[in-house]
This record gives sequence, structure tokens and C-alpha cells, in this order.
Amino acid sequence: MPMILAANANAQGSHVGEWRHPTAWDKPASNLENAVRLAQIAEAGKFDLLFLADGNGVRNLDKPDLFAATAPSDRPGIFEPVTLLSALAMVTKHIGLVATATTTYDEPFAVARRFASLDHISKGRAGWNLVTTSNAGDALNFSHEAHVGRDDRYERAAEFAGIVKGLWDSWADDAFPQDKATGQYLDPKKVHALNHKGKHFSVAGPLNAPRPPQGHPLIFSAGQSEAGKELSASTADCIFAIEGTIDIAQKLYADVKGRMAKYGRQPDELKILSGTTIIVGETEEEADRLIQELEDLVPIPVGLDYLSKMVGTKMSGYPLDGPMPALDAEHLGPTAIGKSIVAMALAEGLTVRETYKRVLPQMAGNLFKGNAIQVADKMEDWYRGQACDGFMIAAPVVPTGMERFIRLVVPELQRRGLFRTEYEGRTLRENLGLARPENRFFMTPEAKSA
Ligand SMILES: Cc1cc2nc3c(=O)[nH]c(=O)nc-3n(C[C@H](O)[C@H](O)[C@H](O)COP(=O)(O)O)c2cc1C
Repeated sequence: MPMILAANANAQGSHVGEWRHPTAWDKPASNLENAVRLAQIAEAGKFDLLFLADGNGVRNLDKPDLFAATAPSDRPGIFEPVTLLSALAMVTKHIGLVATATTTYDEPFAVARRFASLDHISKGRAGWNLVTTSNAGDALNFSHEAHVGRDDRYERAAEFAGIVKGLWDSWADDAFPQDKATGQYLDPKKVHALNHKGKHFSVAGPLNAPRPPQGHPLIFSAGQSEAGKELSASTADCIFAIEGTIDIAQKLYADVKGRMAKYGRQPDELKILSGTTIIVGETEEEADRLIQELEDLVPIPVGLDYLSKMVGTKMSGYPLDGPMPALDAEHLGPTAIGKSIVAMALAEGLTVRETYKRVLPQMAGNLFKGNAIQVADKMEDWYRGQACDGFMIAAPVVPTGMERFIRLVVPELQRRGLFRTEYEGRTLRENLGLARPENRFFMTPEAKSA
């Protein structure tokens, strides 16, 4: 199985400073032409998929420096992701299209319908990034007074995902003969109403869409708490992980894959993608120069605000060149990411300033930098070392970073036999080597006896 390459396709980029770089696109807010070009660049590079993170609210109004300067995970001016991917489906042929939708502030019927539509529109290239919502403030846009607590969020997510999958199985694959001669549009024996009644949801079904070309569009998940890992092991096809070091990544890889057997799943039915910022140059010096240029575009208050946001604690009160404090669970924000940032800073003895610089690219995921050989060596180490099955790549600056990665690193990975030279399959599932799920209500005789 070749390495999986996913493009983190936020048009503002992934590094806090990058939108200001002279080679970055002008006016990136809700810019369709940029999104089209980025999708076509990634497809020309044979990437498996485009990935759009998302939230349902404007963030960081309480962090004025960061708010005014924007930040990749802020995304105050972006498209609703499934709407955007529907447009991108029309100008691409092979690349997978993965959008984020929340199980906390959405409804299973609406999500099942949206992703079934995207899968039909793209002819089998859709994926749903299932999140339980990281930004507490999003709750206020959905008639809640506060964020739903983690345990409840994950309980709801598990029920939600089961319903979505059930709805995708509403119709047998051959339920719509649409035969003009006989007058039979659909076969009434080939529909199943879910009639789900659970703790959080009651959904009658069936879905008003034929079964998606992939059977089930892919499900991605991104939580790294205990509950998040269980959900991934039981339900997800892919994980977007943020780790920071190869040791942490190897542990997470073994941990999550080790939980799958109890759900009757094989380890290779779940692909783990490591969130990685890649800064590649013709030479190592060129890559270092770009990193310096990006850091220089982030004033100190913006960097501190960004670190505060990532660890869930106000950092401006701590000495800039003093050691990163060992924030305990009480001070860390609601996500597992903050914990891993503090662990990394303590393990490496970083100061507050050094820590914020480390988290500027892609939320403190890995940073691989250097020339093409150096970057490919790192990717090979991680991939062969069972730290991941592939990478969720952010390549500052958009789009020149992605173009350079494709020109310099992709051929090196191909030369090593690590990455494809042509798309193997027609659907995202096929390209990722994931089987098309049987319809649980309309099983073939072979599947029933298996
Ligand atoms: C790598 C990564 C990416 C994430 N992307 C999103 C996102 O795009 N939108 C969102 O609302 N939450 C996102 N989340 C948050 C998760 O869905 C989850 O709600 C949060 O991490 C809290 O759960 P945890 O403690 O299990 O990590 C992401 C989390 C991680 C680790």
C-alpha cells in the first residue's frame, strides 16, 4: 500500500504568518478561484485527498491581537466546506474530497444527506471528517448556552455515526431501476427505513438519496482523548492525528490500531495520517530562510495569543524567555492537543517563546524541513516505522509551498516506491485500499455467509 498524502487545503494556509508572505495569494477570504487552483495542483501531484477543517463560529474575539491578524484555525472568512467541495468536484476527477461536520451541533439525517450528495456528485470521492467541535463558542450559534461536555459529545457522536451509516444503507445498490419501458422508477422491496430511537436522536429514514457510490463515504476522526480513540477504533476509516514526535506517533498508532480487534476490525481498515507541516527548499538553507521569514511575520503578541489558544491558558503573564510552565489538566483547555504541546515543550526544555514558534505551523504537529532528500527521509522513517500510514500535509506558503513539495519531494517518494505515479482506483476508498462496505440491510449471499 503506498503512502497516503492528504492536502490540508485551508486557503489561508496553516502557519499563522503565512497569508502575509509576499508569495502567498492575495485576498484569500472565501476565494473560489484559489480553491480551484489548489485542488488542481494537488491532483496533478497525485494527492489522495483534499481536507477541509471547519468550525461554526468566529473565534478569538477575546484575543485581540490574534483576532485582528487571523490564524489558520480561526477561519473567519471561509466557505461552508461541503458546498465548496461540490464545486471542486466539478473541476477535478480523482482527488478525494473530505469536509468537516460536527456531531454536536448538527443532525444525522442532514449530515448523511449532505455527504451522500457529495459522494454522488464526485462519483465516489467524498469523506466526512467527524468532529465533536473544538471551539466552545460554536455552541452559542446553535441555541445552546454552553458547549456540550466531552462525555456527552462523544456519546452523541457514537450514536450519530451509527445513524448516518444506517441511513447510507437505506437503499440497496440496485434500488433505482428507472426503467422507462416498465414504468418502474424504484424497487419498493429495496428500501429500508431505519426507525432509530435512541438517547439523543430519533430518525425514521429512509434517506432521500440512493446508496452512495462508495457505499459509505469515508469517515475521518480527529479526537485524541480516550473517548476519541475509541470512536476512531470502532468507526473511523482515517484519523487526522497531531503528534509532534515519532515516539508519540508510534504509541498512538499502536494504541488505536490495538483497540480495533474488539470491534471486529483489522488494523489496516483504519489509516492514520500525521498532521505535518512540510517546508522544503532546493537547499536546506532555502527552507530555513522561509521558516525565518514566516516567523518574522508573526508579532510576539500574536504568537502568545496563538499559544494561549492552543493550550487553553493565557500565556502573556509568563516570562517570554522563561521555561514553558508545566500546565496541569486544570489549566489546559478542553482538547488533548494542549496536553501534547506542553509535553513536547517540557521534554525538549523549550521556553515560552520557543514553544509558540513551534506551534505556529499546523497546531504543533510535526515539522519536516530541508531539501527534498531530507524531507523524504523523514517521511520514510515515519511511514516505515509504523508511526503513520500517511500525512496530512500543510505546506506553507499557499500555493507555492504545495507546488514545491510536488516538484521536489513527490518524485523522490515515487523513486523510492513509496508513493503512486498514477491513481489506482476510481473512488477515494479504492485509492486508499479500503473495502466498500456491504449494505447491512441488503447483504449479498456471500457477505451473509462470511
Ligand atoms: C488534528 C485535529 C483536528 C481537528 N479538527 C477539528 C475541526 O476541523 N473542527 C472542529 O470543530 N474540531 C476539530 N478537532 C477537535 C475534535 O473534533 C475534538 O472535538 C477535540 O479534539 C476534543 O476531543 P479530544 O479531547 O478527543 O481531542 C480536531 C482535533 C484534532 C486533534
